[in-house]
Amino acid sequence: MDHFQYRDGELFAEELPVEQLAERFGTPLYLYSRASLEEHYKAFDEAFGDHPHQVCYAVKANSNLAVLNVLARCGAGFDIVSGGELERVLRAGGDPDKIVFSGVGKTAAEMAAALKAGIHCFNVESAAELELLNLVAGELEMEAPIAIRVNPDVDAQTHPYISTGLKDNKFGVDIEKAPALYQRAHEMPHIRILGIDCHIGSQLTNLAPFEDALERVLKLLETLQKVGIEIHHLDLGGGLGVTYNEETPPDRAAYVQALLKHIPGDLPVHIEPGRSIAANAGVFITQVLFLKPTEHKNFAIVDGAMNDLIRPSLYSAWQNIVPVKPHDADCRTWDIVGPVCETGDFLGKDRALSLETGDLLAVRSAGAYGFAMASNYNSRNRPAEIMVDGDQAFVVRQRETFDEQLKLESLLP
Ligand code: LLP
Repeated sequence: MDHFQYRDGELFAEELPVEQLAERFGTPLYLYSRASLEEHYKAFDEAFGDHPHQVCYAVKANSNLAVLNVLARCGAGFDIVSGGELERVLRAGGDPDKIVFSGVGKTAAEMAAALKAGIHCFNVESAAELELLNLVAGELEMEAPIAIRVNPDVDAQTHPYISTGLKDNKFGVDIEKAPALYQRAHEMPHIRILGIDCHIGSQLTNLAPFEDALERVLKLLETLQKVGIEIHHLDLGGGLGVTYNEETPPDRAAYVQALLKHIPGDLPVHIEPGRSIAANAGVFITQVLFLKPTEHKNFAIVDGAMNDLIRPSLYSAWQNIVPVKPHDADCRTWDIVGPVCETGDFLGKDRALSLETGDLLAVRSAGAYGFAMASNYNSRNRPAEIMVDGDQAFVVRQRETFDEQLKLESLLP
């Protein structure tokens, strides 16, 4: 269900007119819908029915504390990739025993922090990482619970930058070599084997690659069982796509069903969705500063830019851009561009819109990999983030000020 809908000719976020929110909090602005976040999470959770499972929200998609807290209150687990994400989940009230820790470059300090916090599982991505984890756990006189992230060499059929399950990618351990590494892990005094982990990419819009990867993971499961290595869960990663334009990804329940039908018995399953929970629970609001029609192109210069929302610039990603209050000015084709001094600074190209100076635009599907990838490039303060809950709006991150942006820097003596 989409909680950003037009009513009486203007865009609403749940029960609140977006125009009012923009007046109250300024632009550029991220708006999130609590109801959408909860519905998206629950659609995954409920699709598992009685099958033992844990939905571990991928924090990288949107790591705002309030977003994490809303999901923690629903019972979510979390997939983290850094000490910073661990800190956020703990401060947001997340249950450490539902945290899985992915990522190819965990430091000893991050491993120790996660062990002390009592996380559920480390998703180990290399032999060298396994050795270090054993050492760090030994120093703490603890046992580290692990899954090995295997790379099944499956083409996720998505953008090359967000495809992770091919032999060419830096992620995971070659699935052919995994049995030997499990054997090594089995012998390590401070490692406890829990599961097998696999994540093949992001924004997948069809089920076949997930099922291909799972088939390979299940073969590995059998191989391990034959040599007496017990596996207590499968973590099948994230990656389910969303509709930005005309993509038609399977719905969350169909995705879960497609996985479950292959799972032997009641072997517990973890998944790590990020985008499919957060993307369509958020919009990015920006205001038209100037219209600059030229002979070749019409540019609408807006106050939001690539530093706020980098997906269009970085991946040529298409996100829908809609007027907050549609009107009848003449319709033209516009490039929606920001104030940053780069040709690649655009939010959308060739969009048919009726625009006037001062108009508000909403960039849809901006709740995932939006603010989380924002920067201060061009010394721009990062935007505010607002969570709408019914007819209430909460500032969940204040708009940055210049003092805040500059506070870590100093002049030479
Ligand atoms: N688990 C692992 C180990 C991951 O690396 C990722 C995403 C996820 C789960 C969550 O995947 P999702 O369900 O969100 O597809 N910045 C890019 C996306 C990068 C995804 C990185 N890994 C974008 O804006 O498209």
